[in-house]
Amino acid sequence: MLKQLSIASLFFSASALAAVEPPILIQGAMDIETKVLIDALDNPKEVTKGSWTFWEGEMAGYPVVVSRTEIGLANAAAATTLAVEMYQPLAIINQGTAGGHDPALFRGDIVVGETSFNMGAYKVEYTEKGKGIHPEKWQHFDVVMRLRENGELVNHAYFAADPALLEHTLAQRDRYKHGNVVKGVIGTADEWNRELDRINWFHNTLGTSVEEMETSAAALVAEAYKVPFVSIRILSNTDQHQQDFDPATATNCQHFVIDVVTALIKKQQE
Ligand code: 5AD
Repeated sequence: MLKQLSIASLFFSASALAAVEPPILIQGAMDIETKVLIDALDNPKEVTKGSWTFWEGEMAGYPVVVSRTEIGLANAAAATTLAVEMYQPLAIINQGTAGGHDPALFRGDIVVGETSFNMGAYKVEYTEKGKGIHPEKWQHFDVVMRLRENGELVNHAYFAADPALLEHTLAQRDRYKHGNVVKGVIGTADEWNRELDRINWFHNTLGTSVEEMETSAAALVAEAYKVPFVSIRILSNTDQHQQDFDPATATNCQHFVIDVVTALIKKQQE
């Protein structure tokens, strides 16, 4: 009997107990945005669904899943939907590189998205043939989603980060040594903009701090399933200061995210 009990307790050791806890999901679009995270996982197990790969493991004894979403809104939405259905995560942290819009920000700075929105969704007023193309007149097009409870349609001009996750992330800012960590607005689109007049137009009319290609799509899915969400984006490039893409920023962002997640796990275990 005693022997059986001790075998049972071995079976239900820390890692087995951890397996029943809802994991923290960390997303990155590209290999350079996920490698450091995957390497930081204890007992990693790779799972692929369709063309999206997930690495299930642990950090600080707590379950963490790293998801390589691939690039762009459709990929991000698909990978997030799969992850929520597969893992029912405790929280979703989207992270990776971004391009600077706010001239106050430099390469290496990190924007924690207080809000994100689909910067590539427009509605355009009718104009006659020969009147030209005027992107500065295009209006932002809200996303419409249905409430799960009653099917009511709701407009979303943007998606807000989970307030507690946002505060928690900002509270870790002193751990980051490669630039400033600020809260801001993330504009998502299947675009890479380099015309400074357009970048300034986005910043001045829509308030964007940075642009990238995944956050608002992942945030939409998180909103649908009511999973707490935050996006942590490092400026890897900014045409405001003629700073070109530096892949080292992707590594630095992941190290900060590991600090954020480790601190979150510590809180969770208190
Ligand atoms: N514009 C758009 N996407 C960017 N990314 C980094 N910088 C930019 C930028 N200036 C990110 C996107 C995408 C990949 C191409 O890099 O989120 O995943």
